[in-house]
Amino acid sequence: MPRVLVCVAWPYANGAIHVGHVSGSILPADIFARFNRMIGNDVIMVSGSDMHGAPITVAADKEKVSPETIANRYHAINAKAIEDMGFEYDLYTSTHTRNHEEVTQDMFLRLLEKGHLERKSTPQFYCENCKRFLPDRYVEGRCPHCSYEHARGDQCDSCGKDLNADQLLDARCQICGGSPELRETEHFFLKLSDFTDALVKYGEAGSHWRPHVRAFTLNVLREGLTSRPITRDITWGVPVPVKGFESKRIYVWFDAVIGYLSASKEWAKLEGRPEEWKDYWTDSTCKGYYFLGKDNIVFHTIIWPAMLLGYEGLNLPYDVPANQFMTLEGQKFSKSMGVSIAIPDMLTKFRPDVIRFYLAANMPEMKDSEFSWEDMAARVNNELVATYGNFIHRALSFTFKNFGAIPVKGELDDRDKAGIARIAEAEKEVRDALSVCEFRRALKGVMDLAQFGNQYFDSVAPWSLVGTDKARCGTVLHVSLTICKALAVLAYPFMPFSSESIWKQLKMEGTLREVGWKGLDLPLKEGEKMDKPAPQFAKIEAEGAGEFQRYAALNLKVGKVLDVQPHPNADKLYLMKVDIGRTIAMVSGLKDFYSAEQLKAKTLIIVTNLEPATIRGVKSEGMLLAAEEGNRLALLTPEKDLEAGTQISSGMEPGQKQVTFKEFQKLDIRVGAISAVDPAVLDLGSRKVQCAVDAPEKGRKYAAFVAGEKALVMFGPDKVKIVFDSDIPVGAKVR
Ligand code: MF3
Ligand code: ZN
Repeated sequence: MPRVLVCVAWPYANGAIHVGHVSGSILPADIFARFNRMIGNDVIMVSGSDMHGAPITVAADKEKVSPETIANRYHAINAKAIEDMGFEYDLYTSTHTRNHEEVTQDMFLRLLEKGHLERKSTPQFYCENCKRFLPDRYVEGRCPHCSYEHARGDQCDSCGKDLNADQLLDARCQICGGSPELRETEHFFLKLSDFTDALVKYGEAGSHWRPHVRAFTLNVLREGLTSRPITRDITWGVPVPVKGFESKRIYVWFDAVIGYLSASKEWAKLEGRPEEWKDYWTDSTCKGYYFLGKDNIVFHTIIWPAMLLGYEGLNLPYDVPANQFMTLEGQKFSKSMGVSIAIPDMLTKFRPDVIRFYLAANMPEMKDSEFSWEDMAARVNNELVATYGNFIHRALSFTFKNFGAIPVKGELDDRDKAGIARIAEAEKEVRDALSVCEFRRALKGVMDLAQFGNQYFDSVAPWSLVGTDKARCGTVLHVSLTICKALAVLAYPFMPFSSESIWKQLKMEGTLREVGWKGLDLPLKEGEKMDKPAPQFAKIEAEGAGEFQRYAALNLKVGKVLDVQPHPNADKLYLMKVDIGRTIAMVSGLKDFYSAEQLKAKTLIIVTNLEPATIRGVKSEGMLLAAEEGNRLALLTPEKDLEAGTQISSGMEPGQKQVTFKEFQKLDIRVGAISAVDPAVLDLGSRKVQCAVDAPEKGRKYAAFVAGEKALVMFGPDKVKIVFDSDIPVGAKVR
């Protein structure tokens, strides 16, 4: 039996997994693993939570708890979300286990012994203010390659290039905002150049890799490999097994990739066959597939292979079908983009198969794809419900109503034979596509068969046969149900829950999980009594951010004041010109609060899609947001400077249509202060509500969208907070 090792990128345990993780790595891995199990391959799929590294310590610092608290919390949340989504790992573990520490240290010592590690002193940012060395993620600065302002010490998220901390321009300490200085500190480095020739050969042999993965890899190799530090001046991580390094830890990327190996060993131990991991790592016929997002390619096609080459005797990845990014409003998904896209939240609104369907149909395989609630509703309603679900439900319910049992198949005419032949075609298309990790093509193959099913059903018109020729009617229904059965089998890797349910409704024996691809050839059981079928899928609303949907009608943008003049016909009003990406005219009642000079320097948050109003003879095309309480007023403004026209979305789709002033007045945007962090609670003065906010800080004030017992804070791209230009009490209304 061919063996397949399915490896899935390890999500950091610093937040709930979101749509980006699922579409980028977890879902393709699960589809691929399920398919391989179905065709009889011997598969293990392993991964777990990445518990170490700065993402965890940054989150811990913010909440003033230990890194372990954060990591354990999100490991539990994510292990549950993964199970609820039907992702069938053979083991979903974590990197914070005794086993993982042993395997990591063994790899480290073996590479050291073989001369692939070197000790070097290097300059590292040290913050005098904070009295500590700053890990890469604690330093931000300008990228020397592309000038992106928020590059980190180890990597630039904009151009994807690796960086050394000392290459960053205008470095800033992320803890205190100060300018850190470079200091010498001793670390171990992996001598990647030891492996250049072998890696070039390896990359060149990867003609079956996705073109963007191979091109990226060969390009990195062409630019030349330098030694990479694999230890850090931190206290959270795997201890360095060398005397004198007690105060340091192994760098997270070195330990995380070893997770694939340590998880395989842990799996084997748990199975009670501790040597069995070798079947997947030392037997060269076993193919290892690694599923991850494009920001992780270098770790899987260069660094991990280099480590394996240095260790000797272990298989290199056979394929690294990395995905591009799924974006939301053009931005990379990240925890800070808003709660509505976290998987545990999505699971409260949609069944797992619905989420799996949309994320597979829109998977960023070859290029970035864009997530939108409207697109999700359209695809689910038009394809999954109206085509796939509709055909299956029509065929099953018509049969149940008129036969109550699986009908007997009589003589097949040409049209029926063509129908059966169409199944074989679909099977080939889906199998071919899945074998080479082309998931969108495979899913399209399934949906095309469903569409064919509808056409067949319409053309044979069983309703016109049922009264006149019941035997012929039974035959065409038998063929229709055979297509349904094929759909259940072919769709199983994508939508396992509904496929199992269809299998049961078809009265087939066992489960699809056990029967696998062979289910295609199993005959329907003629005469078997059926149960009343229930539809698998129902239409969904483009509900966006759930209860916050009504706020998604707003289109908020950053506006810069260009000019302020007194209103010719009103004492209390100003006429303003504001740049929101284009220049608009606004009338505002700020004269009692600000001089024209004070206002000219302001950056504001503007509602840009209010129905234009004429105020005392002058047209106003936008409205600025201000918090008001009694005779106090504070303007909303981004905490960091943002360009005019920048979208302020808080993770919701910005409104496309105009909003009337009346509709706007019904919204409840208020000033609240964080009064508890885990879970976050927002104090609105008169009451407290649950709050969705990234990295809550006690006492901090936010403008919040309030819906019932919940609130969502207003924020801009890149986690930029929206603040007030003067002090304003909680409970103040924003308008
Ligand atoms: N936790 C890291 C990330 O999410 C790395 C995942 S893949 C690994 O980007 F193999 F490097 F762990
Ligand atoms: Zn500092």
